[in-house]
Amino acid sequence: MKLIVVKDRQEGGQKGYNVFQSAYDNGAKVFGLATGSTPITTYEAISASDMDFTQMTSVNLDEYVGLAADHPQSYHYFMQEHLFNQKPFAHSYVPDGTNPDAVAETARYDQIIADNPIDLQILGLGQNGHIGFNEPGTDPELTTHKVALTESTIKANARFFDNESEVPRYAYSMGIASILKSQHILLEAYGEEKAAAVKAMVEGPITTDVPASFLQNHADVTVIVDEAAASKLS
Ligand code: F6R
Repeated sequence: MKLIVVKDRQEGGQKGYNVFQSAYDNGAKVFGLATGSTPITTYEAISASDMDFTQMTSVNLDEYVGLAADHPQSYHYFMQEHLFNQKPFAHSYVPDGTNPDAVAETARYDQIIADNPIDLQILGLGQNGHIGFNEPGTDPELTTHKVALTESTIKANARFFDNESEVPRYAYSMGIASILKSQHILLEAYGEEKAAAVKAMVEGPITTDVPASFLQNHADVTVIVDEAAASKLS
């Protein structure tokens, strides 16, 4: 893993942008994208750039089951707001949260990834070491699959909904095996609350207890962390 320590998420966003740009300059055509607060500064830098994605493809990591693309809490909507409105892609794929047939939807998504091998995948990191919706204990061999959200995730997400009963109970997510197929991986993590997960990901054993530790098996991972998230590294 190549580790880059920055002052804050602003500087990290710029460095993340540099990684995007060098992939772009080297002919990357398919970009794997994440939602959440972490990649926002990178998406801002991309939005302000003159990069053109109108011949490119994007493939997102995950989506809540039950939420349509126009639901304000859907990951589809998030991407629209934070990137696609400013930088449209020729094709943007996000799992279809409205498809109730999990077998069909996950197979469809695996086929999309097979047809569009990801050149650069951007990731955030959960406080418990998750990547995508791959929580501790997830089988690392899984490709796209349906995930039951944990009680703690449901509670954490409740603030975005009118009440807890509206929080989706399931998500569709790329698996660890899908993520590891990407040619390059860029993971960003900011804040003290990510420090333990960063240490476990970088220095700990490869274990299903820390899904991000499987990134140690990948040949081309860049990790951008701020000083707070790097604070537990030896
Ligand atoms: C987002 C995703 C999640 C987040 C992670 C960190 O598509 O799959 O794994 O990257 O939960 O979230 P933030 O960036 O909000 O701290």
